[in-house]
Amino acid sequence: MDLPSLLICILLEVVAVKCQHIVQERIVGGYAPVPHSIKYIVSIQTRDRQHFCGGFLINKYWIVSAAHCNIGVHKMLIVAGDYSLTIYEGTEQEILPHLVVPHPAYNSTTNNSDIMLIKLRAPIYLNSYVSIALLPRQDATISEGRVCRVSGWGYTSPSGSQIPSTLRTVKLPIISSGKCNSSESFNGSITENMLCAGYSIGGKDACQGDSGGPLVCDGRVYGVVSWGRGCADAQFPGVYTAVSKFRRWIDNTIFSYYSRCNKF
Ligand code: ARG
Repeated sequence: MDLPSLLICILLEVVAVKCQHIVQERIVGGYAPVPHSIKYIVSIQTRDRQHFCGGFLINKYWIVSAAHCNIGVHKMLIVAGDYSLTIYEGTEQEILPHLVVPHPAYNSTTNNSDIMLIKLRAPIYLNSYVSIALLPRQDATISEGRVCRVSGWGYTSPSGSQIPSTLRTVKLPIISSGKCNSSESFNGSITENMLCAGYSIGGKDACQGDSGGPLVCDGRVYGVVSWGRGCADAQFPGVYTAVSKFRRWIDNTIFSYYSRCNKF
């Protein structure tokens, strides 16, 4: 390489590094966590390895995600232990699902009960890159203002089009359902099975591709990324499935799978 080209390359490299944070700030306000520090998150992909939703492990065989992420058991691939979707890190575990159980009351018009269980064909190995998430008790509440963390490989800008290759995370406070349901916001569309999280000035949010991923508060997954209007809009926070409303369903579904007269 000749000297002028080399100098241009160095300059471009410096600009790329210097501007990285600007590009990331455009995001829905998040940042890249320490690699493999969020060990319970999984990427749900098509069989040709296109990421389309998130999820999280609750034990070696079972994953929780959103019901609207259900594209059919034969079309899905689960990847645990991942960080960069484009680089092979040697920590990934790819497992095919064996059964998907979207919540029977899931309503794609209202988004109510947007939760799904996925049973894996083989157990995930729990190690320093992969672990399980804890769930809240049935009907446990999380109060307004509590700061939670949502993570995923979803769009990093509200306009979409940009899928990041590495995992991202952002901290968000819980917004009361009253505020979230007000006429200035979702105007009554928030059911008791949903939670809202975000800042009144917007700027930080989950976005397309983060669906099914975990919203963690006090070390437990209280929310599953479900829906919103645009992303990071001041008027419209992110809406999450309230996991505590489905704790009994989760436990009963898994239990009945292993009981002799199961309905699967
Ligand atoms: N439904 C979206 C998905 O499939 C997630 C939307 C979350 N939006 C938001 N503004 N928090 O990935």
